[in-house]
Amino acid sequence: MAWKDLKEFLEVLEGKGDLLRVKSRISPRLEMSEIAQRALRADGPALLFENVEGSSLPVALNVLGSPRRIAMALGASSIEEPAEKIRRLLRFRPPAGLGAILSDPGGTIEQLSQLRALAPKRVSKGPCQEEETDRPNLEELPIMTGWPKDGGPTITFPLVVTKNPETGDQAVGIYRLQRYSSTTLGAHWQTHRAGAENFRRYQRRGEKMPVAVVIGADPTTVFAGLAPVPEGISRFAFAGFLRGESLPLVPCRTVPLEVPAASEIVLEGWVDPKETHLEGPFGDHTGCYSLAENFPVIHVTHLTRRSRPVFLSTVTGKPPTEDAVLGQAVTRLFLPVVQAVLPEIVDLDLPQEGILINVAIVSIRKSYPQHARKVMHAIWGLGQMMFTRYIVVVDHDVDPHDHREVLYRVGLQADPQEDFEHVFGPVDQLSVSNRVENQGGKVGIDATKKWKEEGYPRAWPEEARMDPAVVAKVDALLRSDPDLARLRPSSPPNARS
Ligand SMILES: Cc1cc2nc3c(=O)[nH]c(=O)nc-3n(C[C@H](O)[C@H](O)[C@H](O)COP(=O)(O)O)c2cc1C
Repeated sequence: MAWKDLKEFLEVLEGKGDLLRVKSRISPRLEMSEIAQRALRADGPALLFENVEGSSLPVALNVLGSPRRIAMALGASSIEEPAEKIRRLLRFRPPAGLGAILSDPGGTIEQLSQLRALAPKRVSKGPCQEEETDRPNLEELPIMTGWPKDGGPTITFPLVVTKNPETGDQAVGIYRLQRYSSTTLGAHWQTHRAGAENFRRYQRRGEKMPVAVVIGADPTTVFAGLAPVPEGISRFAFAGFLRGESLPLVPCRTVPLEVPAASEIVLEGWVDPKETHLEGPFGDHTGCYSLAENFPVIHVTHLTRRSRPVFLSTVTGKPPTEDAVLGQAVTRLFLPVVQAVLPEIVDLDLPQEGILINVAIVSIRKSYPQHARKVMHAIWGLGQMMFTRYIVVVDHDVDPHDHREVLYRVGLQADPQEDFEHVFGPVDQLSVSNRVENQGGKVGIDATKKWKEEGYPRAWPEEARMDPAVVAKVDALLRSDPDLARLRPSSPPNARS
């Protein structure tokens, strides 16, 4: 089922008791941020602030701040369902010639036409243009300040739409936008992002760049906005795939871009190729303030909106945060994509504490010498995973989500002299400890068991494991002997009567 819009999603959440309407008067400066963080840490509901100081618009926060709401946003009961959909899609192979097509009625052709039917569809009108003005005033929007030393109020959860001037292809990404004035915003697209690449293209042409900023859309589309889709695949098309229904797009009123017709608020404007302005500091997902730096400036020249829009926002900071929860869902969803390229990968964990860009733990089915190193280098060449500063590789029988076991394997099985692979390369713009911005060291730790062929000269010790017959006998004893009953493993809470 495809969500019509953000409001429909919020209403359903409310029906399930998973939305809290905050009626007290709350300031968008720090107060909302603190309340949202408490809701997230308590695995609490989504929040709708209805009485916002300084603005007539309600603000939705923590909307995708739990795995259950993310699954719901994707029309599923768990993230594994859409992941399986992706896995099935990746199994699809185009037919090798007309003969194959003709001998495969209902198979390949049906899949192809289903995919085509999910492409975005153009519509001439949409709720996001119920009202409009060519005198937008950003001061009237309930833009949050998340942390005390932030450089200014910042739109934190927008879908920023830009376009490649050579191909006309649109790019969509979530990039924060600091409000500088009633009509200008700082465009914090980091240097590796599609928005930054498009901006460089306009700079080379000496032309100003059109931009559209979508604040609030149906939750599946918002999720698609941050998903690491392979280059060249449109995030609006990916939203259609996740929705199981194509996403209606409407042309903007004053810029040559298209936005989801059911969006809440759309800011239209232009970026001067020569203009920059100091952006930040900003409390971002490293948990630190990112330093103030120059970024391009969006001049907002037109605003369209629903007559009663909801302003969607989020709080970044040290995990746990909404974007960390989202990051983990993205990892589960895209595991099939990673495995399509690297089939030896059994499982992958990007711990929240590693803020997606710092730490990856991967289990592999090792089948040749130095296989772990091959996987490390492949990950460093894989889309946004190129930023990973620490990669730990373990054998297939180690659960990468079990961090105690992983630490045990690293300490036991990785020799600091032999099994660390140091490289130097691009790192995320927000990375902190690298001496030069955007460049830094990375290390892969091979914590797999070592083989003779890898130059390990000694016999690898066998793990000491109990005889299964003895385990079974002691299990039975613990069940039958009341004195030993207290040694029984405690039953899981949901198994208790
Ligand atoms: C809440 C949130 C805020 C984000 N803020 C930024 C940001 O300010 N700048 C940025 O470059 N990326 C930001 N990102 C990450 C990008 O949206 C994400 O990496 C996206 O996949 C980039 O797509 P692109 O490489 O196609 O531009 C943010 C992600 C989330 C979830």
